[in-house]
Amino acid sequence: MNSLFVRVDDKQYGPFSRHELRGLAKKGKFTPGDWVWHDEDNAWVHAEQLNELKSLFSDESVFDAPKSTVMAIGGGKGGVGKTVMTASIGVALASLGNKVVMVDADLGGANLHTVMGILEPEYTFFDFYTLQRESLNDIILETNVQNLGLISGACGTLGLANPKYSQKLRFIKQLRSVDADFLLLDLGAGSSYNIIDFFLAADEGIIVTNPDPMAIQEAFNFIKVCLLRKLKRAFHGNKAVTALLDHEEITRPGRMQVTLADVLEKVNEIDERTGDFFQQVLESYRPKLLLNMVAGPKDVKEGVAIQAAAAEILNIDVNFIGFVSQDQSVREAVRSLKPFLLQDPKSQASQDLSKLINVKMLGKSMFKSLWEKRKLHKRLQEEKNKYPELNLSDKAPTCSVRCFYWGDCEYQNGGHPCTVRHLEPIFKG
Ligand SMILES: Nc1ncnc2c1ncn2[C@@H]1O[C@H](COP(=O)(O)OP(=O)(O)OP(=O)(O)O)[C@@H](O)[C@H]1O
Ligand SMILES: [Mg+2]
Repeated sequence: MNSLFVRVDDKQYGPFSRHELRGLAKKGKFTPGDWVWHDEDNAWVHAEQLNELKSLFSDESVFDAPKSTVMAIGGGKGGVGKTVMTASIGVALASLGNKVVMVDADLGGANLHTVMGILEPEYTFFDFYTLQRESLNDIILETNVQNLGLISGACGTLGLANPKYSQKLRFIKQLRSVDADFLLLDLGAGSSYNIIDFFLAADEGIIVTNPDPMAIQEAFNFIKVCLLRKLKRAFHGNKAVTALLDHEEITRPGRMQVTLADVLEKVNEIDERTGDFFQQVLESYRPKLLLNMVAGPKDVKEGVAIQAAAAEILNIDVNFIGFVSQDQSVREAVRSLKPFLLQDPKSQASQDLSKLINVKMLGKSMFKSLWEKRKLHKRLQEEKNKYPELNLSDKAPTCSVRCFYWGDCEYQNGGHPCTVRHLEPIFKG
């Protein structure tokens, strides 16, 4: 059980995650006598009747942690580094001894497998969506890194870019059954409903952007659209709140005339209990922000700018976890079909990301993080040494008279590997 509906005074709210319900319970706004929907019994029951919820009302800080943590990596703009970050975050978490599965949820432009040097994935989402493979566990591919698995997206399958609602639900439901400590979802560009729903299904959302104004604008818009969808879902059964959220001045792209603090005030006027739930959704929506391709201290300010705007306009706390420098070795890594953390663990980008992972993502103290950083560095070096070199030109066809372009090609060099068709293995994948 990951999220629940709550009924108060004949109005239904939710779904709320356990984390959100715990926040409400701590403030005394969600009590053991409140009604919650129990899927198995298909009935409303008092919260205290569910064993799974008892710990929410106890003072003990022990909170039975979920089996796995699902992290979604999104961000609105294309080309900002979502995929390269997913691959390297996956490598780092696996190198620290966690069981990690990366999921290429970019259904329109799957390429995570290429970054991992897998040219022809044996299974892809296509097998799952077309029911040829029943479970997500059946389509996990091994990568060249220990403890790191990959669920590959299906490339070149247009139909999958817009999965049916039932297919999406089946995927989201099954995410929790994947056998892993961490699941990393690499999302596509844009802020379509499919992408947002994957982002909101995760326990943690990481928004990647670069410091360019257009990317910053799209990252902010992504944060806003996700928040509005989350609020609309939670207050689906409440007509007055829905009307407030549908108001043109909130939903219109670009300038927002009304802030979410204004909306909260109005919801509180409707009824205080609903206001409490509304505030809880705002408080618990805390996306992480990672600024990529930073070229200097001036760029770092852009992350703070998003944070400030989100606080002022959306009334939420964006967690700006830090930055990764613009670094030529990231480009080289992509060309060598490797995660950049393994291409060169000492590069500036690798050092930036390693620091972020220990301190900001895994919440290690500064002291512990120094220790872990050393451990990570050592493990990355070992993985780097084991990682196979993939030379695409080895797989290129030999330049010969049999080629369609023979006699017409400025790169013609008979008997040698073709330097133009060297990428064909990627296209075929
Ligand atoms: N820190 C960096 N320094 C230099 N180049 C980078 C950095 N991060 C990413 N890049 C470059 O940006 C390119 C795009 O990255 P990536 O494919 O991860 O973007 P994306 O956000 O996943 O794009 P899409 O939305 O299209 O899937 C990479 O091929 C890489 O060359
Ligand atoms: Mg991508």
